[in-house]
Amino acid sequence: MKKLMRVGIIGGGLMGREAASAFARWFVLQNFPVKVELTAVCDLQESLLEWFRQIPTVKLLTKDSAELLRSPDVDVVYVAVPHHLHEKIYLQVLAAGKDLLAEKPFGIDLAAARKIEQAAKASGRFVRCSSEFPFLPGPQRVVAAASPENISKLGKVLEINAGFWHASDLDPTKPINWKRQNQFCGEIGVMGDLGMHAVHIPARLGWKPKRVHAQLQKIYTQRPDGKGGLAACDTWDNAILHCDVDIGDQADIPMRLEMKRLAPGATNTWWIEVLGTDGGVRFSTAEPKSLWTFVRGKEQCWQRTDLGHGMPFPVITGGIFEAGFPDCFLQMWAAYAAEWAGELNGKFGCVTPAEAVLSHELFAAALQSHLTKTVVPL
Ligand SMILES: NC(=O)c1ccc[n+]([C@@H]2O[C@H](COP(=O)([O-])OP(=O)(O)OC[C@H]3O[C@@H](n4cnc5c(N)ncnc54)[C@H](O)[C@@H]3O)[C@@H](O)[C@H]2O)c1
Repeated sequence: MKKLMRVGIIGGGLMGREAASAFARWFVLQNFPVKVELTAVCDLQESLLEWFRQIPTVKLLTKDSAELLRSPDVDVVYVAVPHHLHEKIYLQVLAAGKDLLAEKPFGIDLAAARKIEQAAKASGRFVRCSSEFPFLPGPQRVVAAASPENISKLGKVLEINAGFWHASDLDPTKPINWKRQNQFCGEIGVMGDLGMHAVHIPARLGWKPKRVHAQLQKIYTQRPDGKGGLAACDTWDNAILHCDVDIGDQADIPMRLEMKRLAPGATNTWWIEVLGTDGGVRFSTAEPKSLWTFVRGKEQCWQRTDLGHGMPFPVITGGIFEAGFPDCFLQMWAAYAAEWAGELNGKFGCVTPAEAVLSHELFAAALQSHLTKTVVPL
C-alpha cells in the first residue's frame, strides 16, 4: 500500500501553482512509495483561488490560513508567501500539528530562521526547505564527483564557485514588487531571494564557510510603482560572497558564491563548479544537457557529456530527453515525500532546517562584512 500525502498550499502565486503542477504529474514517478493529493489551497487573491478550482482533488479554497490549518484533510503544508510572513505562518503550521515544506529563505532573517528551526525541533514535525536545482541530473553528477568518497580524485581542490543569476532587473522600467523591498524581502535582499540555491550543495557536502568577505551592490534604488509613480527599491541587487572552507585536511579553500539580479543575459541561471589539480566538474542550467569534466592527462581537457533525463527518482520520461525546471521541482517534491515516508534510502534530500539556518548565518555575516568592509568569521 502506498502512503498518501495530502498537501495544503498557503500562497498560490508563482510557486504555489508550480507545486500544483508537480502534483498533477505525480504519476510519472516510477515505483514511487507515496501518492500525493492536493486537498486545500489558501491565498488572498480570488483569481488565484479560481485557478486552483480546476484541480479536482482540492476540497477547500480559502483566504484564511487558519481555516486550511484546521482541515483534517491536510498532512503537509507548502508555504510560498513573501518572506516577512514566513516566521508567522511556518509557526502556525507547526502549532497545528502539520508537516511543512517551507520556501526559502526560511524566515526573513537569521533570528526568524533560528526560531523556526527551534519550533520545528520542539514540534517533532517533518520540516524541510525548498531548493530544487540540485535534483537535476547535472548537479547530481557534481555532487557525486565532489562527495567525500570521490573528491580526492580531483587532486588538491583549487576553488569552488557557485551562483544563481537573474537578469530581468537590468531593465529599469521593470515595476517594483515585494522581492525588491526590504520590509517584505528582508535586509539580506538578493541573498534571501537567490542565496539558498547557491548554498544547498556546498552545505550538503559539509563545506561550511569559516569567514566571509562580501561585496553587495544596490544599483537601481527606485522602480516604477505600477501606478504611474516611483517606489523605493531598497534591496541588495547583487551579492558576491568570498568564503574560505576546509575540505578534509585541505584548509582555506576559496569558495565564491554569487547571487545576482543584474547578471547580463541570465534568465534563471544556476551554476556550480569544483576545480581541482587533477580533475574538475562544471554545470550550468544555461546548458542544461551539458556536464563539463576537467581531465588532466598528458593533455589537459574539458570534456562535455550530453546528459539525459537521469533523475534521482526514476520517471517514465525517456532517458535521452532533456530535463527542465518543472522536472527538478517534481524531483524535489519526490525527495520531500520519500523522506516524509521514511523511504529516502540515502538519496539526496531537501534542505534541512539546520542548513537553512547555516545559510542565514552566512548572509548575516555578509551584511556585516559589507558594512564594515572587513572579513567576518562565522
Ligand atoms: N524555489 C524557487 O525556485 C522559488 C522561486 C520563486 C520564489 N520562491 C519563494 O517562494 C515564496 C513565494 O514566492 P512567489 O514567487 O511564489 O511569490 P508570489 O508573490 O508569486 O506569491 C505569493 C502569494 O502569497 C499570497 N499571500 C500573501 N499573503 C498571504 C497570506 N497571509 N495568506 C495566504 N496567501 C498569502 C499572495 O497573494 C501571493 O499569491 C518566497 O519565499 C520566495 O522566496 C522560490
